[in-house]
Amino acid sequence: MLLLTLGTAAGGGVPQWNCACPGCTGARAHPDRRRSHDSLAVLGPEPSSWFLVNAGPDVTEHLETHPRLRPGAGTERTPVVRVLLTDAELDHTLGLLRLREARHVEIYATAPVRQALRQRLALDTVLTPYTTLTWRDLPPAGHSPAVIAGIEVCAVPLSTKRPRYAAEAQQDDSWVIAVRLHDPASGRTALYAPALAGWTEEFGKEAAAADCVFIDGTFWDDEEPQRLGISARTSTAMGHLPIDGPTGTAQHLASLPARCLYTHLNNTNPLVDPLAPQHGVLAGRGLEVAQDGMVIEL
Ligand code: MLT
Ligand code: MN
Ligand code: ZN
Repeated sequence: MLLLTLGTAAGGGVPQWNCACPGCTGARAHPDRRRSHDSLAVLGPEPSSWFLVNAGPDVTEHLETHPRLRPGAGTERTPVVRVLLTDAELDHTLGLLRLREARHVEIYATAPVRQALRQRLALDTVLTPYTTLTWRDLPPAGHSPAVIAGIEVCAVPLSTKRPRYAAEAQQDDSWVIAVRLHDPASGRTALYAPALAGWTEEFGKEAAAADCVFIDGTFWDDEEPQRLGISARTSTAMGHLPIDGPTGTAQHLASLPARCLYTHLNNTNPLVDPLAPQHGVLAGRGLEVAQDGMVIEL
């Protein structure tokens, strides 16, 4: 399978329209530092077989970036768009509204995510006059995987963190998941986890068994949101383990055999500046920062 990193930023992107922090200012001065909302395209073995993991506000620009994601020659329109969701957050789901020109949109999600989108965001009501929506379950690891574009996919439950618009909804550990992607032809596995609230035993096992891990790189350290004045809470309290520090993900990832790449970077994260010394710290541990537009063959 081919993995295409369509976007690598947290909600708001880099730069964020209403922000003049050093990361956003730097991205305005250096367009190559711009990052769009995190999303992954997975290209299967057949010529037109692909699907997305998450569909954020940039989705239709994303679909123009790679020739294989564009419609075929002539008048043929893309017949169906398939989207897997890691959660119901707006930065991962607003793009579903932008896919209304599709004839058919298939959405793979866990039960609480599906319920939030159908009941709270009223996606059926809004989109059904434009397109056909099909909702599909994303089976948890340990069950028969769904097979999409020749790739076996399943959900690794991560946390009960609900979007702010569903803050009082019922608790369920599959509000936020990692998507496991396994290519039976190559035997290789990738894990996509743009929001990781805690390093669970199950996630550790999944990461240890994967060949490639995309992981939450929202904040560099736990105090970053408070220090930069964007929240009174720590990174961990916001549902994102930091990269660095005693509870950070870098120490766990450094011992894994997988290729590990940070994604979902917030504009406050020093890593949005390619000259930041933190890049050297990660490189020393064999870890990478994902960029928009990477192509990874597994
Ligand atoms: C998150 O990643 O924590 C959410 O996208 C934040 C939000 O948009 O409220
Ligand atoms: Mn987010
Ligand atoms: Zn900013």
